[in-house]
Amino acid sequence: MQQPQVASLFPPEWTNDEILERAKQVQKLGIERGLQYRCVASGEFLRIGLLQNPFRADIMQKKPLKEQRIVEIGCGFGIDVRYLIRQLGVSKDHVVAIDVAPAFIELGYELFQDKEAVESCFHVKSVGDEDFVSFVRDKFSGNPVDVVLAFQVLHTIPQYNEKVVKDVFQLVAPAKGVFMGTTIGIREDREEPRYFHRQGVARIAHTQQSITRLLKQVGGFHRVKTQFLERNIASDSKEWTAENTETSPLAFIAFVE
Ligand SMILES: C[S@@+](CC[C@H](N)C(=O)[O-])C[C@H]1O[C@@H](n2cnc3c(N)ncnc32)[C@H](O)[C@@H]1O
Repeated sequence: MQQPQVASLFPPEWTNDEILERAKQVQKLGIERGLQYRCVASGEFLRIGLLQNPFRADIMQKKPLKEQRIVEIGCGFGIDVRYLIRQLGVSKDHVVAIDVAPAFIELGYELFQDKEAVESCFHVKSVGDEDFVSFVRDKFSGNPVDVVLAFQVLHTIPQYNEKVVKDVFQLVAPAKGVFMGTTIGIREDREEPRYFHRQGVARIAHTQQSITRLLKQVGGFHRVKTQFLERNIASDSKEWTAENTETSPLAFIAFVE
């Protein structure tokens, strides 16, 4: 298991072996249902994105997370959503989790056996949809959004990077909130990201400069912090290089003020 804390999100009577067995089953079903992501193939999905992010304390500076309204885009199996609710005490009414792939959300219910308890949080929706901002606002009945999370998502949607940062800025601006996440990065000194393909699918790998520029100049965020994370995955391989350049997870946080 990637992080011991993940076990605490499952029913207490389940042993680690049972959790791993169930995760393997869900991984197999995910691959069968066409979820072509490294996090699925490598089993890396059993981890809490928030805990890996060096900027997590920054989102609690203004008020406790419990009092904030949180959106997660590209939520995958929904592990962070369960962490917010079960470990950090965030109310279900304050969490909106979005993913374009129904199979991820459904397999998340399968993994945790908790559909009834959490399904009100999850929505099948694309961040590329024109009505994405109004959709999210509607889910919170017009109340302002404090935090938007996106763990390992931006690199999978090169076509929507600009739209996403603009939309997220619109969502968090009223509460002077933050946008926090991780994406695939390259440790190069260049202004432009690199574009590449993984198994025929378009990807984008940001540098620290390119993601900062995206968030500030395209999105409108005033302050941005970025930091590379150490890769902790056993499955590093050539398919994860952009033009033969090693990639690493790149954490970011962007502030309205
Ligand atoms: C690499 S996975 C990361 C999943 C999860 N956040 C995690 O850290 O394990 C990328 C996720 O983004 C989702 N995604 C891709 N395109 C999307 C879109 N247009 N709108 C919403 N979610 C999208 C995928 O379905 C997938 O769940």
